[in-house]
Amino acid sequence: MSGDDDTKDMVETVDVSPREGESSIPQAPGADVFRQLLHQAVRVADMANSQAMRMALDFAKVYEREQGVRKEFENQLKQMTLMEKQATRYAEDLAGMLRSERERRQELERALEQERIASEELRRTGLQGISHLLLAATIKDRTTGTHLQRVRRYVEAIAERLGLPEDLVEEFGYSSVMHDVGKIHTPDHILQSEHVLSDDEFSVIKQHCIDGEKMLGTARFFETARAIAREHHERWDGKGYPDGKKGEEISLAARIVSIADVFDALTSKRPYKEAWSAEAGLKAIEAGAGERFDPEIVAGFIALAGEGVLERISSEVAASEDEDHSGSSAK
Ligand SMILES: [Fe+2]
Ligand SMILES: [Fe+2]
Repeated sequence: MSGDDDTKDMVETVDVSPREGESSIPQAPGADVFRQLLHQAVRVADMANSQAMRMALDFAKVYEREQGVRKEFENQLKQMTLMEKQATRYAEDLAGMLRSERERRQELERALEQERIASEELRRTGLQGISHLLLAATIKDRTTGTHLQRVRRYVEAIAERLGLPEDLVEEFGYSSVMHDVGKIHTPDHILQSEHVLSDDEFSVIKQHCIDGEKMLGTARFFETARAIAREHHERWDGKGYPDGKKGEEISLAARIVSIADVFDALTSKRPYKEAWSAEAGLKAIEAGAGERFDPEIVAGFIALAGEGVLERISSEVAASEDEDHSGSSAK
């Protein structure tokens, strides 16, 4: 019957049956999958609409010409219903995926926030630990707090100048103040000896680097501090202690600290010596470039001096010290 063929041709067949694997929600939907699904849903809906229109028109024509096509029409109607269901399911899948994606993102944000709070807490605890350690170390060593403050500020200025990221600058700074914590274990008579040390006494002194590293435990927070404690007496040419490391075998943080520490020791008054001028101190540092110190860091340090940064740090630390004293005497 020719009418049958006509009707078949008039109806565009749209295959909307789900393909293998597409019928369920993918495990980890990405933006692409969403977009694809959305397109597919819109396309199916469009097709269903236009096909319905065409079919209605076609049917009207066919109906006019032939009256016996009801069965065919019913088939088409079934197909249309199927397509509609398909489109609805696509839309539902899509909504479900969007929903679970949003929930996942919220969960992730909550986790990140908790992580941030925890690490801030850890950082504060660590910093508190540092100040206790330092209190003990400074009492024992008679190092002044201002020495440590200046070393810290010099170290931060150098690290910044070397272009290190802000968090590393901070880490190098707070870690530098612990360079001599190991001296808690050094006997007083050796620490405060004013005569030239014997070999035995010197080997006891060397121990403060090893003790310092040990005291700082295993926490990630003190990783840089451990390296600094262990290596701040190493020399660029390998003639330092306790391990005789050389060049870049010595951590960058320790190479920076050794310059800041020596410069501040030279330019400060100690029980056994007067304070050197900044010029004399700088000359000594410059003379040590390539021997005792990393020449690149020395160059940066000299540049900082030229820009007046070292002088500014030194007078700011002195001013804050004065403030502390006048504050406590006023009470
Ligand atoms: Fe030291
Ligand atoms: Fe020091």
